[in-house]
Amino acid sequence: MREINLGLIGFGTVGQGMVRILLNNLDLIGAKANIRFRLKAIADLDIETDRGIPLSDVRLTSDAKELIYDPEIDILVELIGGLEPARTYILEAIGQKKNIITANKALLAVHGKEIFEAAAQNGVRVAFEASVAGAIPIVRALRDGLVGDRISAVYGIINGTANYMLSEMTERDCAFQEALRMAQDKGYAEADPCLDVEGIDSAHKLVLLILLAFGRQVSLDQIYVEGISGISPLDINFAKELGYRVKLLAIAKGDERVLEARVHPTMVPASSLLATVGGVYNAIFVRGQATGSSMFYGRGAGMMPTGAAVVADLVEVALDLGSGRRKMLVPEFSNLSINDMAQTVTPYYLRFSAADRPGVLSKISGILGDHDISIAKVIQHGRQVGGAVPLVMMTHEARESNMLAALELIDLLPVVWGKTVFIRVEENFE
Ligand code: HSE
Repeated sequence: MREINLGLIGFGTVGQGMVRILLNNLDLIGAKANIRFRLKAIADLDIETDRGIPLSDVRLTSDAKELIYDPEIDILVELIGGLEPARTYILEAIGQKKNIITANKALLAVHGKEIFEAAAQNGVRVAFEASVAGAIPIVRALRDGLVGDRISAVYGIINGTANYMLSEMTERDCAFQEALRMAQDKGYAEADPCLDVEGIDSAHKLVLLILLAFGRQVSLDQIYVEGISGISPLDINFAKELGYRVKLLAIAKGDERVLEARVHPTMVPASSLLATVGGVYNAIFVRGQATGSSMFYGRGAGMMPTGAAVVADLVEVALDLGSGRRKMLVPEFSNLSINDMAQTVTPYYLRFSAADRPGVLSKISGILGDHDISIAKVIQHGRQVGGAVPLVMMTHEARESNMLAALELIDLLPVVWGKTVFIRVEENFE
């Protein structure tokens, strides 16, 4: 059995999950892959806290460089997160011909090109299954299982915190702040919960999904990002009434020329599989030209699920080391141009705060009509003489630029009080 020496930088939640799985399953992994891993050293700023894991043969240090420059270490696992010093550590380790495993989606989204190029130059692997959707093997699915197909769309529920919050708001009718507090109490949110609720964490992961599915290294600023902080229980309830659920979706759609890349709250049909993904679960719905629709579902975060994804990368990289085989280094293989968000076409949900008096509907619908926007449905409940009522519309497919121009005019109408809420709709999940 081949022995492979490992170093781990970052002994936090995921690091502990990886070490527990590795130590508990050493024999199982040996039997399955004919590899014996030896965890040689762990670096962390905190090497005092007892994590309840027996580590008698493992050197603990607070100096990551000891691992980077240890010639015996074959594979280095980076689980400290954040941009620096993670980027510097990884580049230095690649320079030392170490294979890298990371769960650091933010780092790969921002500095992926530099890191993948350095790896290619040094003939080492950078594996990152744990960086997108935790336990779901979506990196392998896109890179290996679907390699023969041309992918036309990817829709991801890839932030468990946001999905948990929207699920709570849908099921228990609670407000955004209460849902956020519950997510934080349960330890789901990132250290900075803005990353979760403002869609940034989903955008980091979407950069990686796009690279795998479409072969295009996009930068974060090429992705349109809108979070869920503007979503109220009122809109969630109207969505329900209309037969939809609100999800924070990371969407990539490509033809042979143009790629749409966007993260935003999205209404999906209540009957679609994505609508059934509740709580902290993640799912990625993939449409391929040959394979049709597939959905990958599972736990997107947490100590053991994410730790298991890191261990899977360890085995894969270790097998590669033995065979001399090199898996694709995720090169950019396409030069699709990125769609301007203003050109995106979707149906829209609109909620106006409108005065409740004759002629208001015709004023609003007149402006929509002037902008080539056709109305599919209208809802108004109750009566509010002298006050404002929520007036809800579903439109047919409309261009974003037309919608924004129409809403600017509508929001100036004296009969419209307050800013109109709009949510984009995705219907096609056959
Ligand atoms: N905060 C992330 C989530 C964790 O909620 O999905 C995993 O990236």
